Amino acid sequence: MNILVLNGSPRPCDNTAALVDSFTEEARGAGHQVSIFQIGNKDIRGCKKCDACRATLDGNCAQKDDMQEIYPAMRSCEMLVIASPIYYYSLTGQTHCAIERIYAFERLPKLKKAALLLTAGGSGFTSAIQTYKDAVIGHMGAKDLGIVKTVGSQFKSATAQNQIREIVRKI
Ligand SMILES: Cc1cc2nc3c(=O)[nH]c(=O)nc-3n(C[C@H](O)[C@H](O)[C@H](O)COP(=O)(O)O)c2cc1C
Repeated sequence: MNILVLNGSPRPCDNTAALVDSFTEEARGAGHQVSIFQIGNKDIRGCKKCDACRATLDGNCAQKDDMQEIYPAMRSCEMLVIASPIYYYSLTGQTHCAIERIYAFERLPKLKKAALLLTAGGSGFTSAIQTYKDAVIGHMGAKDLGIVKTVGSQFKSATAQNQIREIVRKI
């Protein structure tokens, strides 16, 4: 399966990246193709609703920012993994902006499955999970393969690793 992972942390080598690395190692080991985009430190703006995309609904967004690198991978992905730290009780701003910009497709054309990987210092997963469930599972019609929530150093825990293994097993 062709898998797209969006890491919404601005820190490329820290907690969320550790979950992404574990997922990627498991998924590649199982023979899947995984593309990772470190979106947390990219120039990704929110949708402006100019509606230029509505003519094709094929990821042709008028905003020429770093989303342009990601649209081709979005066009072909069959599974979307959203990885994000919790910032102020939600996904990071860049993660949310990238989800908004899927508007340029309305729904990803090949998307069948999805998963959510979250890290936090303490609490506040509710809104991030709701956004994922409403936007990716509900609106885009992907099947949820699992949600991993980690607090503090739990991203290294056997529980998190087992949950990731279980997601990959279900692909
Ligand atoms: C701006 C900001 C807001 C944060 N808000 C929350 C929060 O609401 N709840 C929480 O538990 N942790 C919060 N954190 C902590 C991060 O979610 C946590 O440290 C996370 O694992 C960092 O991921 P990273 O290492 O991939 O950057 C916040 C951190 C920052 C920088």
